[in-house]
Parts: sequence; structure tokens; C-alpha cells
Amino acid sequence: MKKFYLTTPIYYPNARPHVGNSYTTMVCDAIARYKRQCGYDVAFLTGTDEHGEKLERAAAAAGVSPSEFVASRRPIFYNLWKLLNISHTHFIYTDRPDHARCVQRMLLRARDAGYVYKRKYEGRYCIHDERYISDSTEPVNCDVCGRPAELVSEENYFFKLSAFADRLLEHYKTHGNFIHPDFRRNEVVSFVKSGLRDISVSRKRIKWGIPWPDDPEQVFYVWYDALTSYMTGIGFAEGNNGSAEFQKYWPADLHMVGKDIIRFHAVYWPAFLMAANLPLPETIFAHGFLTFGGDKMSKSKGNVVYCEPIVEVLGGADALRYYLLRDIPFGQDSSFSYDALIQRYNSDLANDLGNLANRTVTMVNRYFGGEAPAAGVPMPGEREIMELAAKTAEEFRARFDACDFSRGLEALWQFIGRVNKYLVETEPWALAGAGLETNKTRLATILYTAAEAVRFSTVMLYPVIPLSAERLWKQLGQKGKLEDQRLDELQWGGLRAGTRLSPPEIIFPRLEKEATLKRLWELEEAERARATTRKESVKPVEPQPETQPQAEEQKISIEDFAKVDMRVGEVKSAERVPGANKLLKLLVDIGSEVRQVVAGIAEYYEPPKLIGMKVVLVTNLQPRKLRGVESNGMIVAASVGEEGKPVLVTFKEDVPNGARLK
Ligand code: MSP
Repeated sequence: MKKFYLTTPIYYPNARPHVGNSYTTMVCDAIARYKRQCGYDVAFLTGTDEHGEKLERAAAAAGVSPSEFVASRRPIFYNLWKLLNISHTHFIYTDRPDHARCVQRMLLRARDAGYVYKRKYEGRYCIHDERYISDSTEPVNCDVCGRPAELVSEENYFFKLSAFADRLLEHYKTHGNFIHPDFRRNEVVSFVKSGLRDISVSRKRIKWGIPWPDDPEQVFYVWYDALTSYMTGIGFAEGNNGSAEFQKYWPADLHMVGKDIIRFHAVYWPAFLMAANLPLPETIFAHGFLTFGGDKMSKSKGNVVYCEPIVEVLGGADALRYYLLRDIPFGQDSSFSYDALIQRYNSDLANDLGNLANRTVTMVNRYFGGEAPAAGVPMPGEREIMELAAKTAEEFRARFDACDFSRGLEALWQFIGRVNKYLVETEPWALAGAGLETNKTRLATILYTAAEAVRFSTVMLYPVIPLSAERLWKQLGQKGKLEDQRLDELQWGGLRAGTRLSPPEIIFPRLEKEATLKRLWELEEAERARATTRKESVKPVEPQPETQPQAEEQKISIEDFAKVDMRVGEVKSAERVPGANKLLKLLVDIGSEVRQVVAGIAEYYEPPKLIGMKVVLVTNLQPRKLRGVESNGMIVAASVGEEGKPVLVTFKEDVPNGARLK
């Protein structure tokens, strides 16, 4: 049996997954199900990326050990994948003991081959993206996330990435399938041609990581560790050359990733593998970002959409899965919209597919006692449907093989639309009305054609809307599992005459748009508030009277006070907001993340003087925009004198970023 091994990126567990990053997992699930139906033995890996400075800081902010912190976050992923019907076969998390052995094994192979050496490093590093930004010590912002890069200086182990430029370029040239889409391959090729520098693959100042084999002061660079998890998950740590499972599935056939991490996968990863003398993956596919409100969906920007409310309101995960695969041209950036989601649900699922299935099953029940009739001699209308069915299956497969899900589904819906039109043209209800007995043969042919068209479509629907497809399958009286239906051998005529259908059942009840939108917004708001107990936006410090007498009824309880989440933060950058005399835009490191806030202190504080200052940030306010700049927190200040001069609260003693004020 042919094998197919595909992976999602492994997710940082400090942030809760939203529609943006769950998108990759949903797409991979559709591919996994599709490949199984094409006769492949599929291994499908996902997991969590649990080491590194970001997690170390998030755990410190939560007041627990890193290991406890990541273990407590893992179930969020298991549970969401269950809710979204993800059929992964392997879940790797990098705090697993066999993973450490696996990473060390990789390294020793590369080191024995002469690709690892030690030297001093000084430069700028972005903690958020876990990457080196510049060899210079000059302040600079990360070119990916825009946050200020930190100055780091330490002795590290380096990997000779520079030695692999030619081999990588040769591989890209001779393996046309290695990077998709093409425009991403071109970007990667230019990047490698512009020159590769050796990269540090160990860290000294971080404790939370996999120990370096014979240097207890150092841990592995988190990306070396994370990428290797694709091999740990299938047993590379076992025996001398990995387990039997590893021998069977490695190399991966597909690493699906977002465009922001293509370089790690298409440059670093193949070089690490070449150095360890291991086979390279077949394909790396980089998809685009989901945006919301015009910006990349991301927790730090406060513009995330969570999956759970959608699943609840739309009666399961299928509608969301369908919308994402149908609406987004795969590979490109695309905006998420509730309107479009409801539109797709109503028009494609409730109307086109739901109506076709429902009226067909209803008529078979009404006119043939629920038994699939035998088709008579086909007329041109039936012949057209049969030919279109074969063409549709062929196109669907070609599109899915090329990860062009949107056009694969478009072809399928053209077929469904044609069958609906066929029913309108042939009017079986009118034939039955004109004399059931006289028209029985013709009626049988029409209803067989419609019912078989639904069965035929259901096999293709399964990878995308598995639960709804299963329900349709059962309504059509089909036995066995839909996942065992071979899509690559799909033939017209699989519905046996005499098969007993179930009574009709509405699978996609129509949604009332306004009420659905309202419910979705309410639930999403509640989720956002829940997910960000420690976060949120800021309003600038506004002058307040120095003292205010407080009436008894204005007093609050200790519980009320505890709702305000105040954290110690360190100002990483400060700049004026153009066109606003009073406002400064600050980036403040609060341990678990770097927040952008806007503060009304520009008349009293010079931006450079603020850099490095410890401040207090209220982190769980609603985000808001000031002069078009988003603010995600409020800096706490005393308001002094008649004019309400803000004096920032700071500390005499050293306090870690992220410490909570109580
Ligand atoms: N831990 C690394 C991956 C290591 S793989 C060996 C990582 N994790 S992540 O949690 O930050 O991101 C996981 C994936 O989610 C990435 O592929 C990223 O591109 C994707 N997405 C995050 N936000 C997204 C959108 N708004 N839209 C689409 N994909 C998004 O990077």
C-alpha cells in the first residue's frame, strides 16, 4: 500500500488556537481523509512546540514551571482538534523524553559530519519569532513581526548553513515539487542566492530546552528542536535508525505551513537533514494568512476569531471547514468574514446540496416506498449527468492533488447544480402527479439518477465535511464506512436498486442571517474576553483630578479589584503617533508577549528616555484605536497637579516582566 505522511506545524501552546492557525489543521485533515480515500496508508502528525524563551516567560508569568505550563495547555489543542473532527494519527509534543533523544541524535550525526562548531555570538534576536535578526548590535525591529529585537551576546554552537547553499539550490532545481506555490519557491531561491550565514543552534541563557549532548550550559535552538519533531513523532528515537514506522513513513510527503515559516522549512530543515544524511521531505506547501478586519488574525492584535462559537452556532465543524476550503484560494491571503460564512452555508450547503438530497430522498420514500428504484433506459438528460459525474470526479481529484481545494469544490458544486437543474427540467413530481403507475419507469430513471448523483457527490464531500457526508451516506442506505469508499475508483452506478433509504432528514437547516450573526458576535466577544483575562487594550493615560472623594456606593469589592490584571512591563520602543501631540506608541514586554499600547504622555516624556523603563500595564481592557493606532493595554500613571501631568508608575527594585500586581 502506498504511504502518505503529512504534518501541520507544531503550535506554540502559550496562545489559544484561533481560526487562523486552526485553518492549517483543517486543511491537512481534508488532505488526510482524501488521501485515505485514494488508497494511501496515511500518517498525519500535529502537535505542540513547547520549548524556548517565549514559553519560559509565559510560564513565569503564570507562576508555574514551564513543564507544568505546557502540559496544562496541551488539552486545549486535543480538545479543539476533536471538536473540528481532525483525524490525526500522531500528536507530538516537544517536552516528550524521546524527543530529546531524537534531537540529540540528529545533532550528533551533523556534528560527526563536521557541520557544527562553537563561537561567540553578538547580535539582535527576536524572542517572539525565535530568530536572529542582525549580527550588528544596533537596535533593530524584527523584519517579520515588527517587534524590537533584543541584544544577545553569548557563546553558542553554530550550524554550517553556509555550506549547503549550492546543494539546496540544486535540490530546488531538480525537485520541482519541493516548494509550493511557485512564487514561494522563487522567494526561497532568491533568499538562498543572496547568501546563507551559519546559524546558532544552541542557547546559553535559556534553561527551558533540550540539553546539548555534552555541554550542560546550553540548550537547543527551538527551531532545530521543533523541526525534528516531525521525525520523533513517527519513531526516529528508536533503535539505531528509527522504528519500523519511521522506516515506513519517512521522508514526509507534505509539510503544510503558513507563509511566515517557509524559510525554516525550505532552507534550514533540508540543510539539517542533509547534514545528518537523512532523506528530505517531498513537498513543503506554504499557505497564506487569514485576515480579519484587514489585518492578520493574531492574538496580540486582538482580532482573532475562535472556532468554538462557529461550531456551536452552525451545528458542527463542517460548515466552517467547507467555507475555509471553498472560499479561500489556497496559498493566498484571504479575509475571514462571518457574512461570507453564512452565505456559503445557506447557498451551497442548505440550498444546493441540502435541497437536492432532501427532495430526492423524500421522493424515493414517497413514490417507491423508500427503496432505490432501478433505472430504465437513459435519455440524453441522464447521459449528460453520467458524463458530467465522471468528469467532475476527475477534475475534483486533479484539483485536490494540487491543493486547489476551492476549484475542486467549485467543480463539485457545478455538478450538484446541474443535477438540481435536471430535476427542474424533468419534473418528477409532475410525472407522479400525472399518474404514478403510467410514468413509473421514467420516474424510476429520474429518481435513480438523482439519488446516485447524491451518493456519487457524497464520496467527494467526505474529506471536507466528514460528519454531514456520513449522515447523507446513511440516508442513502449505504453500508460500511464512507472513508473506505475509494475516490480514485469512483464509478457511476454504485447505488444498488432495492437499497432501502432512510426517511429524509434535514442536514443543513437554513440560517436566518441577522440572528445568526448576532449570536456569533455575542459568543465570539465572550470567547475573546475569556481568552484574554490577562490581556487587552489600552487607553492613553488621561488627566484625572488628583483626589476624588469616594462615596460608599462607589467602593468596589476585592473581587472587583482582582478583575483588573496589572502586569510589570518593560518599554522596548517608543515613538510619537504622527499628527497627535499627546500620544506615544509604545511596545511593552509583559513577559508572555510584547504589547502595543498608546499612551497620552507625549508632552511629558521623551521617547528615548522611556526605553528599558519598567512600567505597570493594565492588560485586560478592551482594545481600542487612537488616531488609527491600536492600543492593547493602559499604562498606569499618577495624575499630578492642576494640569493632570502623568507620572508613570515604576519600581525601585528589579522585578521580572510579567509579574502581576495585586
Ligand atoms: N511553532 C512554530 C512552528 C514550528 S513547526 C516545526 C509556529 N507556531 S505558531 O503557533 O506560531 O503558528 C503555527 C502556524 O499557524 C503557522 O504555520 C502560522 O503560519 C499559522 N498561522 C498563524 N496565524 C495564522 C493566520 N492568521 N492565518 C493562517 N495561518 C496562520 O510558528
